[in-house]
Amino acid sequence: MVISAKTKVCAIIGDPVEHSLSPVMHNAAFKELGLNLVYVAFTVTSTELKTAVLGTKTLGLKGLNVTMPHKNAVINYLDEVDTTAKNIGAVNTILNNQGKLIGYNTDGAGAMVALQENGVYPEEKKMLLIGAGGAAKAIAYQAAQDVDELVILNRTAKKAKQLAQMLQSCDAKVTGTALSSNVLKDELSTTDILVNATSVGMHPSIDCSPVPSDLLRSDLCVMDIIYNPLKTRLLKDAQSAGATVVSGLEMLIYQGAVAIEIWTNCPAPVAVMRTAALNQLKKQGVQC
Ligand code: ATR
Repeated sequence: MVISAKTKVCAIIGDPVEHSLSPVMHNAAFKELGLNLVYVAFTVTSTELKTAVLGTKTLGLKGLNVTMPHKNAVINYLDEVDTTAKNIGAVNTILNNQGKLIGYNTDGAGAMVALQENGVYPEEKKMLLIGAGGAAKAIAYQAAQDVDELVILNRTAKKAKQLAQMLQSCDAKVTGTALSSNVLKDELSTTDILVNATSVGMHPSIDCSPVPSDLLRSDLCVMDIIYNPLKTRLLKDAQSAGATVVSGLEMLIYQGAVAIEIWTNCPAPVAVMRTAALNQLKKQGVQC
């Protein structure tokens, strides 16, 4: 595309952002859609967050993605926050709607769409979610709208219980407990969808898995939020057991797809985004 005086800008802000896949993924999408939009990355420290966000208005940026460590704090500088993001307490996408900054959280929706696009439908299913951090919270909030039962297991029991408590008003039965071998074995035996939302198995600890391989079955769907490596130990074990597997890259792509739809009202070209993200991962030396 030709960058002109009319080109609009989207960006990701965070610290660090150098390894983000979002710029290549979103630029590929904008090109495919024929939009006069570019996407760049800005390193923004916590002390700079307020001025960076307000600068979005001054410079007329079209939208932002927000990543670590600003997903919570950024809420303080927005004009409006949609209900999902407000409930999760974290924003990963901002729309600049003619000078009004509106915050959204597309992480949970991204995870659920990733499951559906891979042929896994959460309705009437039991989901076991390992983890109770920021990503787990976004997934749990969305999943609790769709599944019949959600079990949250976390190393720190208190966080699992708090998250489950937060979701008591949802239709799904939601419980939160400490992650232990016995509970994991018991709960997994009646689970349909297993999601790892912890950092266990992430590079460089690629031989670690949060779930022993002998607990995995062919009738399970297993999703990992990690995409470095693309096939985590958990996903490799799940695949060997004959389970359906969904990688963390799928969640990344679909959270980005939802963001594109918020900024442009266009359906996102996910195949193009996947190719661009995969190529970038390979360039970064990630095991794909
Ligand atoms: P994110 O924003 O990516 O979710 P986070 O908020 O720091 O990151 O959450 C990390 C999650 O991984 C937490 O659920 C954490 O468990 P604790 O709440 O007990 O800290 C989980 N986690 C990290 N390392 C772990 C490990 N070695 N074993 C089990 N869980 C782990």
